[in-house]
Amino acid sequence: MPLHQAAVGSQWWKSGVIYQIYPRSFADANNDGMGDLPGITQRLPKLKELGVDAVWLSPFYTSPQKDAGYDVANYRDVDPLFGTLEDFDQMVDRAHELGLRVMIDLVPNHSSDQHVWFQNALNSEKGSKERSYYHFKDGKGENGELPPNNWQSMFGGPAWTRIEDGQWYCHLFDSSQPDLNWENQIVRDEFEDILKFWLDRGVDGFRVDQPHAMGKEPGLPDHPYVDEAGAGFIEGRENPPMWFQDSVHEIFRSWRKILESYPGERAMCGEAYVLPLSFMAQWVRSDEFHQTFNFRFLDAGWDKDTLVAAIDESFEAFDGVGAPSTWVLNNHDVMRHASRFGGDYGRTTASDGVGPENPQPNNELGIIKARAATLFMLALPGASYLYQGEELGLPEHTTIQPEFRQDPTFFRTSGQRVGRDGCRVPLPWEDGNESNGFNESGKSWLPQPQSYAALSRDSQETDSKSTLNLYKAALKLRADLALGEGSFDWVSTSESLSFVNNGILVVHNFSNESIPFPDGEVLLTSSYGQTRLLPNTTAWIRL
Ligand code: NOJ
Repeated sequence: MPLHQAAVGSQWWKSGVIYQIYPRSFADANNDGMGDLPGITQRLPKLKELGVDAVWLSPFYTSPQKDAGYDVANYRDVDPLFGTLEDFDQMVDRAHELGLRVMIDLVPNHSSDQHVWFQNALNSEKGSKERSYYHFKDGKGENGELPPNNWQSMFGGPAWTRIEDGQWYCHLFDSSQPDLNWENQIVRDEFEDILKFWLDRGVDGFRVDQPHAMGKEPGLPDHPYVDEAGAGFIEGRENPPMWFQDSVHEIFRSWRKILESYPGERAMCGEAYVLPLSFMAQWVRSDEFHQTFNFRFLDAGWDKDTLVAAIDESFEAFDGVGAPSTWVLNNHDVMRHASRFGGDYGRTTASDGVGPENPQPNNELGIIKARAATLFMLALPGASYLYQGEELGLPEHTTIQPEFRQDPTFFRTSGQRVGRDGCRVPLPWEDGNESNGFNESGKSWLPQPQSYAALSRDSQETDSKSTLNLYKAALKLRADLALGEGSFDWVSTSESLSFVNNGILVVHNFSNESIPFPDGEVLLTSSYGQTRLLPNTTAWIRL
């Protein structure tokens, strides 16, 4: 019996390829240097051409942009930076016309401090109903001058900020992102209504931000091992009081019911950083999330043993609850894989970012490995997530100067952790003006590195060996061969790593020597024109 059996009666989200659009950096129609919804609408045909099934948009809601839009001030409107609700509707219509589904980001763990609820809370008394929408507490110490507990912010520094009347509020991220109190029924009702607002506008689903942080242990006790884990957790140790609380599951169940009450196959994907995957599997039981991001796979780097273990663990955990495994190598929070695989970057460095002062990646090696990793990933059964720009093989921008930095991590750590700006740089569409076709004005909210000109989409379209054309070929074959819905079995784990899916042998050469191609028809390789399979190369072979 194969390790993973082919899906029966597959729904789109079980095997689809979902492309993450980071609206700030995708395409800028009004030339102000910031991407926008009309820019997305204009360029959607290019994504159809690429061959993806769906797009997921990072936040475009009304926001002071303290965390690039993950600080939402109004969940039912579009920030003028990105356009209007009408622009949103046009974007969804265009996507649907092209046969692309649209998922949007939902940010329920925290709002912006500019949200009317938080402003009202600030203007209300201690213990008031208004304050109960968030976690307000008195401090410790003689005059309440110490934070209520030892929790740390994911972006550095304490997770508490004191307000004028002496109380403190909790924020697991930036101080401009107060955590909502999900014990409060009004908060729950409001979010159900927000879901319906967007489902009524035709969205096909949601990517849910930080769902594993929404529940907090009653009484908000100290993090038991904060000195070792900081804001986070250590796998295998007890759950800290701000992560993975059981109370969240009934919230997801109520959301799933709402999604299922709509026609079509609406789906939600949780950004649940929950490990091990046997634990994450509880989040994708048949009445909760449809899927979660597979961070085990993303974090595996390109190390053979870790990768094998991650894939085994994924199928075991997700098949156990009848959920699809998902696969992902990039997003807007980690160093791009074309650079990450060109250096020795662990999980922490990958999300803390690499700046001019840090060891620089070998991007020549990085792109070779990245192309191979993508080919390997796109042959795995399940859903795959791509992040804008990876289809161009874009490297991380690792030399952004301090004056351009925007990530709150940079500011909260006084530059010690440069943050995630390097993977968020505007896309090069056409080699030409200063922003390489991101817009006509040449303006750009983050500067592009020089290398982006040669990697612009138009120059890659005409180059048969380009990364763009490799992605296109892989996505087309994946669809033709139904690999997303396929089965999985390892073939060997010696010098090469191979598996079979629907009669296609996928082989990656992990050794330092070239090896003969296995017997069969070579359909696609991550590096071209060779008679043997080079090191760091993946091939798809029809048996
Ligand atoms: C996860 C998002 O992907 C990240 O960009 C954001 O900073 C945090 N959640 C907080 O919303």
